[in-house]
Amino acid sequence: MADYASLSIGGKSYDLQVIKGTTGPDVVDVRKLYGDADVFTYDPGFTSTASCESKITYIDGDAGVLLHRGYPIEQLAENSSFLEVCYLLLNGELPSASEFADFEKTITYHTMLHAQFDRFFTGFRSDAHPMAIMTGAVGALSAFYHDSINVDDPKQREISAHRLIAKMPTIAARAFKYSVGQPFVSPRNDHSYAENFLRMAFSVPAEDWKPNPVLTRAMDRIFILHADHEQNASTSTVRLAGSSGANPFACIAAGIACLWGPSHGGANEEALMMLQEIGSVENIPDYVQGVKDRKYRLMGFGHRVYKNFDPRAKVMQKTCHEVLAEIGDSDDPLLKVAMELEKVALNDPYFVDRKLYPNIDFYSGITLKAMGFPTTMFTVLFALARTVGWISQWKEMFEDPQRKIGRPRQLYTGALKRDYVPLENR
Ligand code: CMC
Repeated sequence: MADYASLSIGGKSYDLQVIKGTTGPDVVDVRKLYGDADVFTYDPGFTSTASCESKITYIDGDAGVLLHRGYPIEQLAENSSFLEVCYLLLNGELPSASEFADFEKTITYHTMLHAQFDRFFTGFRSDAHPMAIMTGAVGALSAFYHDSINVDDPKQREISAHRLIAKMPTIAARAFKYSVGQPFVSPRNDHSYAENFLRMAFSVPAEDWKPNPVLTRAMDRIFILHADHEQNASTSTVRLAGSSGANPFACIAAGIACLWGPSHGGANEEALMMLQEIGSVENIPDYVQGVKDRKYRLMGFGHRVYKNFDPRAKVMQKTCHEVLAEIGDSDDPLLKVAMELEKVALNDPYFVDRKLYPNIDFYSGITLKAMGFPTTMFTVLFALARTVGWISQWKEMFEDPQRKIGRPRQLYTGALKRDYVPLENR
């Protein structure tokens, strides 16, 4: 028996079906409301709106839980690999050994870019932000891979998904190399996904490059932690762009543009800059007072969904300690500031009352800096890892028989109809 919610407007009552998911809040189906009652629902920022049905990722923000296809993020980060998580997100189940071997081979053998693509990078100013390069370069993939942009063909959708996952590390590494004036390094098929990316980012022709297993594992784990996060701003952007039938490369470029904002993926860059600005533990009380006086926000803190510890932040904190220990930088002053700031904020009623806990970006900046990445690369790495989430959600949207072009409505508060006044009379 279906449940119904009743809504009364102007003395008339409307029954709205309440739909249950497998877990999480029920949703009130308002799809027919405008047709039946001539009203829209109003929810800027989508704080109470489910924009789609999805089977990919589940977050319980109050409990601090994040599940991909049902598997807790902590278990995936500890036991799995990024490519296995990619398979899981895309296909719904963990792969068998042979399925994984096939998938790994497919991704590994699609990492190269069309040779002409390299000329595209050199069109950017040498001081361009790597996120600007990423947005342009990923959008440009649609100009190079015409054979996989028919969105109505499931096989082409799959090929595009594989191409994106495979080529993002190559594009990200080139964006980095271009910004530091070093020659591009081609991918090699005898390295793992994370190792290959680190090699393309950090090796130079002048000397041999040796992989460091601790840093490779940390990179892989950072990719896992950023792989998907249900209907956040950039994912919703990808779905909205895709709902018009736009090609997958253009949709992912739209997601990258959205991710760049400081309230979203840009926060890891901002969080590190904040720790550098605070500089030392003695300056924390003044800085926290500035937050309370609303001069600025504590970057890397708070989340629209998590009103408890971000489960990714706990794994990120552990990874941060492992990386700093490996490179012999456990006394990094930024880490000291971060740990003390976290302690102060978690015990201060301003943050406790507002349920502001550290999010993933609080520790990722210090970790990435220690691994050798400049701050401008932080959001690029997020984009690289999130590509699988975006493309999985995009693919799911196409497989949904209820797919419709996204077309929100509005509450209009502008001028009423009026007549044009010629320029000479104004
Ligand atoms: N520092 C200080 N106060 C904060 C913060 C913060 N980081 N975040 C929220 N608040 C306060 C805010 O001032 C408000 O207080 P009041 O009710 O007294 O006016 C209250 O908490 C609720 O804030 P909100 O802006 O309504 O919350 P939101 O859900 O719209 O914002 C957020 C979520 C992530 C944009 C916000 O917490 C923020 O700006 N955090 C800093 C940026 C950041 O770290 N972003 C990364 C998010 S995780 C990575 C990702 O998913 O992209």
